[in-house]
Amino acid sequence: MKIYCLETEQWVEEYLKKSLAEHDVVCRPETLQDAEVVADALVLCVFVNSRVTAEVLAKYPSLKLVVTRSTGYDHIDLVECQKRGVVVCNVPSYGEHTVAEYTFALMLSLSRKIYEGVRRVHEENKFHTDGLKGFDLFGKTLGVIGTGRIGCHVIEIANGLGMSVVAYDSLPKAELEKSFSMKYVTLEELLERADVLTIHTPYLPSTHHLLNSENLKLVKSGAVLVNTARGAIVETAGLLSALKSGRLAGAALDVLEEEGYVGEEWKLFGEGRGASGRMETVLADHILLRMPNVLITPHNAFNTQEALERILQVSVENILGFDGGEAKNLVKF
Ligand code: NAI
Repeated sequence: MKIYCLETEQWVEEYLKKSLAEHDVVCRPETLQDAEVVADALVLCVFVNSRVTAEVLAKYPSLKLVVTRSTGYDHIDLVECQKRGVVVCNVPSYGEHTVAEYTFALMLSLSRKIYEGVRRVHEENKFHTDGLKGFDLFGKTLGVIGTGRIGCHVIEIANGLGMSVVAYDSLPKAELEKSFSMKYVTLEELLERADVLTIHTPYLPSTHHLLNSENLKLVKSGAVLVNTARGAIVETAGLLSALKSGRLAGAALDVLEEEGYVGEEWKLFGEGRGASGRMETVLADHILLRMPNVLITPHNAFNTQEALERILQVSVENILGFDGGEAKNLVKF
């Protein structure tokens, strides 16, 4: 099979070529939209920055399988894949603890102003604590939105830190209330009660702008938000207003709505009328980037050696499984 792998570093390329030695593997460091088209590819092996749109799919008439080296698959047009008979596989679980640990790295960076402290010492060569007073997580209430694989690990760590946990999920798991010190509540109650909010749902039509201008008004004054899930789960304009008004005291975001255009804004100009809404969101992203109480990292929560090795292993199993007639980890259409 011809397998076209995108967004691959050197070691990833070596791993894929060795593990898929029976196949014709082509690797490129660029995203699918930036790399040359390999029109006879049967398999695309992509990461989250490669947008597998209808337009892109039309350039791959031989395509049978899309393997994404991620849990989330909101960068893939599933409807178009289904129309074309293209199977999609993901990596459902590789790093729930990896992402949960990162969530707390962000949360503690916010609560203890770690970035500002490091910046002051390194860039200004100043060694004082003025303006660096933070707050304890111990005794605070954490609001966990989405109690799947990552959300569960987050709850466990939060319990270890002595936080109370309230959680919201469209499919609550009663057993979690027995295993952990946590309580399911409605989304509204969670927003009203939590000192720290953290999001762990997938991005789906049902989670698009799950937090928005309206319900962010319910947030407890002075609360902070952590988002390691997907940017568009939060309405960026609503987030900006909540931060500007001071209702939200801060945010730590590993993901941004329309993050694919940040640093690549020029790409919006070839996209015609549909791009104007996106432009507004990217502008809002840039305002967030300049706010001192907002920490932004570049979709990095998954990025540990251990997690990457698990991702590659499962991705290879997905490709070989499909080739052997037993597709694994199929994304349901
Ligand atoms: P999961 O599928 O195990 O859990 C998701 C939870 O969200 C489930 O309990 C589900 O019932 C709940 N949910 C779904 N729709 C909902 C809705 N409309 N309202 C409320 N709850 C809803 O997923 P997992 O493994 O915990 O990952 C969550 C997300 O984290 C992924 O979909 C991905 O987008 C993101 N992620 C981000 C990474 C990063 O590097 N920043 C890395 C890995 C995952």
